[in-house]
Amino acid sequence: MKILELYSGIGGMHTAFKKVVCAIDINPTANKVYAHNFPTTNSINGNIEGLTVNKIKKMNIDTVFMSPPCQPFTQLGLQLDIHDPRTKSFIYFLGILPELDIKRLLLENVRGFELSEVHNMFITTLKKCGFHYKEFMLSPNQLGEPNRRRRYYCVAKKEPFDEATVANLPQNDEIIQDPYTLEKILEDVTTDEYNVPIKMLLNKSKLFDIVYKDSNRSCCFTKSYGRYIEGSGSIFTPKTMAEVDDVYERLNENTQDEIDPETRIKIETELLKSLQFRFFTSREICRLMCFPEEFGFPASVTNRQRYTLLGNSINCKVVAELMKLL
Ligand SMILES: C[S@@+](CC[C@H](N)C(=O)[O-])C[C@H]1O[C@@H](n2cnc3c(N)ncnc32)[C@H](O)[C@@H]1O
Repeated sequence: MKILELYSGIGGMHTAFKKVVCAIDINPTANKVYAHNFPTTNSINGNIEGLTVNKIKKMNIDTVFMSPPCQPFTQLGLQLDIHDPRTKSFIYFLGILPELDIKRLLLENVRGFELSEVHNMFITTLKKCGFHYKEFMLSPNQLGEPNRRRRYYCVAKKEPFDEATVANLPQNDEIIQDPYTLEKILEDVTTDEYNVPIKMLLNKSKLFDIVYKDSNRSCCFTKSYGRYIEGSGSIFTPKTMAEVDDVYERLNENTQDEIDPETRIKIETELLKSLQFRFFTSREICRLMCFPEEFGFPASVTNRQRYTLLGNSINCKVVAELMKLL
């Protein structure tokens, strides 16, 4: 396979299958991380709409991997679908696909994409080009990883699929391997850089998705991780569930007692601080998303940028399993 990686980001697809000839993304920070990890790949900093049929033909590629922007389809978003300007480049690519000699294709997107008008255009184009295709909704926790990231995937190729290989993948919500515990991916964090700030502790502690070292789950890490709490990723505590329950019970009692507000805040702060809540580090999230240890970030990329880039990326193991079908 000679692969063109569209919407390449930090190179999750490249990590899953190391045969990428050329990659393109419009985000310079993502491209910096990509070049840091894959210095020999031709990584273009630019808009996909600038890729003409001739330019792609000159790349001499036969396979396309891509994760187009998902914001037009996210269930909590406006779901503007074909009317969202962020789908323009994908619609452009579908327009030129029939003129390209592409033999295999893999696409990743959020849940909700499968219900969109853009999805209809995608499938119609695949059929028009003579592709066989398979669609999946998969999450890494179904393949033994302690992280949820349920995503839509489509693999397509010009030859028929081997149904026995397709059947090896989890069907519906099936879990084919039990996830290991988080202890395996934890770093020894000695700084307070990752501590949840006091303001978040006081205002949002009831919304934390709390996980422990013996948990075998964590929720999806999004690009807002570290800035927002609700639905953006799990919070780690080195304490036990019993210790956390005890503190939360005492917090509840504290709100019922007749205490002046200042003293109450002081007590709540101390109680919550005792649980040593912290965010997962970018290395830990890389591990949960199945990036190898040698994958790294240039020192100039801030922690917040790392969370954003990882939140946009993919689980390499899930994608690697799907690539086997191609
Ligand atoms: C869902 S992310 C893909 C992440 C990638 N698979 C990874 O592993 O990091 C979508 C990417 O598309 C890029 N993008 C959006 N519109 C683009 C366009 N018109 N041309 C090129 N890249 C674009 C964004 O900068 C973003 O990195």
